[in-house]
Amino acid sequence: MRDSVKLSAGRSYLAIPGPSVMPDQVLQAMHRASPNIYAGELVEMTDTLPEDLRRVARTKHHVAIYISNGHGAWEAALSNTLKEGDTVLVPASGSFAFGWGEMAAALGVTIELMDFGRQSPFDMARISERLKADTSHQIKAVLGVHVDTSTSIRNDLNALRAAIDAADHPALLMADCIASLGCDRFEMDDWGVDVMVTGCQKGLMVPAGISFVFFNDKAAAVRATLTRVSRYWDWVPRANPEWFYQYFGGTAPTHHLYGLRAALDLIHAEGIEQVWSRHATLARAIWAACDQWSEGGALAMNVADPSLRSHAVTALRLPSPRATDLRGWLEENLGLTLGIGLGMAPPNTPEWHGFFRLGHMGHVNGHMILGLLGGIDTGLKALNIPHGAGALEAASKVLAGAQSA
Ligand SMILES: Cc1ncc(COP(=O)(O)O)c(C=O)c1O
Repeated sequence: MRDSVKLSAGRSYLAIPGPSVMPDQVLQAMHRASPNIYAGELVEMTDTLPEDLRRVARTKHHVAIYISNGHGAWEAALSNTLKEGDTVLVPASGSFAFGWGEMAAALGVTIELMDFGRQSPFDMARISERLKADTSHQIKAVLGVHVDTSTSIRNDLNALRAAIDAADHPALLMADCIASLGCDRFEMDDWGVDVMVTGCQKGLMVPAGISFVFFNDKAAAVRATLTRVSRYWDWVPRANPEWFYQYFGGTAPTHHLYGLRAALDLIHAEGIEQVWSRHATLARAIWAACDQWSEGGALAMNVADPSLRSHAVTALRLPSPRATDLRGWLEENLGLTLGIGLGMAPPNTPEWHGFFRLGHMGHVNGHMILGLLGGIDTGLKALNIPHGAGALEAASKVLAGAQSA
């Protein structure tokens, strides 16, 4: 008789690409009574955040904090740099580029979309050609998503800057690092990124609810030319507050700030370079397992070339409806939740059930990733989904090799 014992009690594991697993230190830092928002500990602690945020983003420039999700950061960045009638270039390698573009369109900005599909990164030569052809400089900004969480493609923002420079074009380079910050290497100043947006709920390991816009002096100069900027989104008082209230355009997100303080302490105690290396190694272990599974003919990674894959998220396919079956089985039986496919097929169609994603961002370590992979291996067996053997062997070799190297 089949053994139908459920194995899901115990600590569950949310392996979706954000919100990510929260460290106990973050949760504990938030577990407190409301602080005074006018003076004292919270006010003093908040003053320590911008410098440590800048260290994560590798910039010497400015940062504004918003009480919002990533969509709010998108809108804030656009509101401080563009006006109705401006044009932006939006290269796309996944859904989030469309989303940011649509938000700009809703603000009256003209969008020029360059869609590179769901399995390819930006084609820098085409972007450069387009910018060269824009001799009257109608294009005011290029909106580049670093890691598109829907496809798990990572775009080379340094090369995007080179493409803009090769065209000798003054457009701002605006980057969405919502999925990548604190996971994939990102060098705001060295790569010449003018504006960067991110959220707190992925690599920064804080519950969703605050977001950040980093901007350099070139972007600040553009902001200074705008005659009208939404009072709430205006980054000027937030980045240079004369008094505490201005940081947040109103009441501070008190508990999020304590959580963020704890998360930044963890990141800097580990060291940002080491944080990136950890993500890179864990990602390689995941890909090694996926390579083995894909020998069975059913599972495939969305991005074929490892150098184009994010270290924070992996998008996968299985013949529909097996991806949904696998997610359901793992959650119900093992307490392991994988991400849904996003933007790969329209919702409410049979194809939608052929995609899923793994989040491996933020507070993740070797044993968690081995648990994730072991869980998937188990689910593939339980559901009789064809898969190659040796996935865990391959993953553990990557992790062991990284340690002995
Ligand atoms: C790359 C990217 N951009 C933008 C967003 C939107 O962020 P939010 O859902 O916090 O509004 C997300 C969220 O997953 C994302 O991954």
